[in-house]
Amino acid sequence: MTTRLLVTGAGGALGRNARQGLKGCAKVLRLSDITDLAPAEEGEEVVRCDLADRQAVDDLVRDCDAILHLGAIAVEADFDALLQANIVGTYNLYEAARKAGVRRIVFASTNHVTGFHRIGEMLDHTSPRRPDSLYGVSKCFGEDLARLYFDKYGLETACLRIGSCFPEPKNQRMLSTWLSPRDFLSLVRRLLEAPAIGYLVLYGASENRDAWWSNAHADFLGWQPIDSSEPFREAIERREPGPAEGSAYQGGRLATVKARPGD
Ligand SMILES: NC(=O)c1ccc[n+]([C@@H]2O[C@H](COP(=O)([O-])OP(=O)(O)OC[C@H]3O[C@@H](n4cnc5c(N)ncnc54)[C@H](O)[C@@H]3O)[C@@H](O)[C@H]2O)c1
Repeated sequence: MTTRLLVTGAGGALGRNARQGLKGCAKVLRLSDITDLAPAEEGEEVVRCDLADRQAVDDLVRDCDAILHLGAIAVEADFDALLQANIVGTYNLYEAARKAGVRRIVFASTNHVTGFHRIGEMLDHTSPRRPDSLYGVSKCFGEDLARLYFDKYGLETACLRIGSCFPEPKNQRMLSTWLSPRDFLSLVRRLLEAPAIGYLVLYGASENRDAWWSNAHADFLGWQPIDSSEPFREAIERREPGPAEGSAYQGGRLATVKARPGD
């Protein structure tokens, strides 16, 4: 069992879900964000930390044996902001993890690393990356950094290319990409608890009928999603009968919007 699990980005949508849902997954949950978090409850530690602050991240990671790395700018954004939070921040985290002897990281990557593939195309962990945004590029950096730290230092990572993790799928695209919050939690638990994962790239989606991604290579995890977007289809198709903007590409709107934040 994990002794101390660090969750970065604990104040965000997935972080709040993890705070509730991963109780008992480790003896101590160390919760961190750049923003204020609710005070620590039993079995928790709360640390405010900017991932771009190297010394602070070294202190944050010390005494942890596993990390769920959710902290990031999770949308398309100004390059300098992405650089600090997603690139410098992820580097700081991996360096700190190496020095602290962390065993495993679950890295919240994104489906937007392959968002320029066309919809309907079946992808898996061997498909070429085609990021659809600078946000996607920043997550490609994290995936490659994780590869380096496994090959060189044996630090295990699951690069979890999360689809769309919301309480309900909101549009046609999410009929393919939806990951229910409880499937997210059960997958993260499996990734933390599996005996050995090495360097693993996989997609995070529920059991959706029109899936675009295969995780067959990760069957050894024994993870089975229990939700599906199908019960939401009728309402979504009634609301959104025609193709939406960006519907040719798996990344949706992120693939087609050319304007940069600030234009
Ligand atoms: N929600 C999804 O469907 C989805 C899909 C694909 C990938 N992801 C990834 O999962 C992770 C969590 O997503 P989310 O939806 O909870 O996003 P979110 O924006 O709700 O949460 C991200 C958290 O990271 C924190 N953060 C940002 N910059 C930071 C910094 N410099 N230092 C410390 N903390 C910082 C934010 O304050 C925020 O609380 C992100 O890495 C995101 O890229 C999410």
